[in-house]
Amino acid sequence: MIQVYNPRRSALYMPGSNARALEKAKTLDVDCLILDLEDAVAPDSKAEARDQIVSAVSGGGYGNREVVIRINALDTPWADDDLAAAIQSKPDAILVPKVNSPADLQRVAHRLAAGQAPESLKLWAMMETPHAMLNAAAIGACGRDPQVRLSCFVMGTNDLAKETRAQLNPGREIMTPWLMTCVAAARAGGIDILDGVYNAFNDLEGFAAECAQGAEMGMDGKTLIHPKQVETCHKAFSPSEDEIAWARKINDLFALPENTNKGAIQVDGKMVERLHADMGLRSIAIADAIAARSQV
Ligand code: COA
Ligand code: MG
Repeated sequence: MIQVYNPRRSALYMPGSNARALEKAKTLDVDCLILDLEDAVAPDSKAEARDQIVSAVSGGGYGNREVVIRINALDTPWADDDLAAAIQSKPDAILVPKVNSPADLQRVAHRLAAGQAPESLKLWAMMETPHAMLNAAAIGACGRDPQVRLSCFVMGTNDLAKETRAQLNPGREIMTPWLMTCVAAARAGGIDILDGVYNAFNDLEGFAAECAQGAEMGMDGKTLIHPKQVETCHKAFSPSEDEIAWARKINDLFALPENTNKGAIQVDGKMVERLHADMGLRSIAIADAIAARSQV
């Protein structure tokens, strides 16, 4: 069976302290918005940013964009107030940074339950610490625990580089084992995973290459820092016309009476199994969801 698919090709960060960006976000063609209280906001601006985010999210106007609030890390003096504000303003999800273990998410989930947050309010987890890389499977498994309500991983490659001292090079050869470990952990937990940001936002060529790499890795989408990255990102994370044509072709072939009892067939010189037909159905479902989304 094909799961109902919620496109998360793009997730644009914006500082909660930037009122203009919070307003502009209502007009941008992005799947998800991450309203940030953490890294993008200076310590002296935390309270003001929190108030602005509460009034923006409570005020609505974000249409079918998924609205996510990133709180400060749990061991900072701001986390409690951030959580209370996020519960009050009812976004679609709360993004928890610097998650080290399932216990961190369980703590936040407990607060959500105590604050009577609606079940529709989900948790997203930043995967960006050395502990998170070592505990990825256990953190991903929170996706199977309805009480934790985890629905998405977000790779925090800048923090990961800082904390591990591993370099974030073009091509990301060094980071790839961690990225792929997190993809596997997300899939095992039945949740989505979004790739890290590309800092050089004027370099759209380099950005396109990194989007393509993320898509090849199996990422569902990518986190963005600037509106000019959106179009390139959507192209990379939407099924191509060729992919959809192939998906339809192989599914039509398996539906033929002579193939109904076959597990594998030959198409254009390639072995095609029913699992490929299932993957094709998923691409078709994604394309349909994207098309439906743009009509709203
Ligand atoms: N979200 C929404 N709107 C954004 C935006 C964002 N992330 N980044 C830029 N914009 C808007 C600007 O407000 C500006 O709008 P305007 O023309 O209506 O005034 C327009 O896009 C052009 O912005 P530009 O001048 O090119 O960028 P800048 O120099 O003002 O800002 C950054 C550059 C990097 C500071 C900014 O893009 C940013 O804050 N990005 C997000 C940073 C972040 O959240 N980091 C944390 C996670 S890694
Ligand atoms: Mg960070």
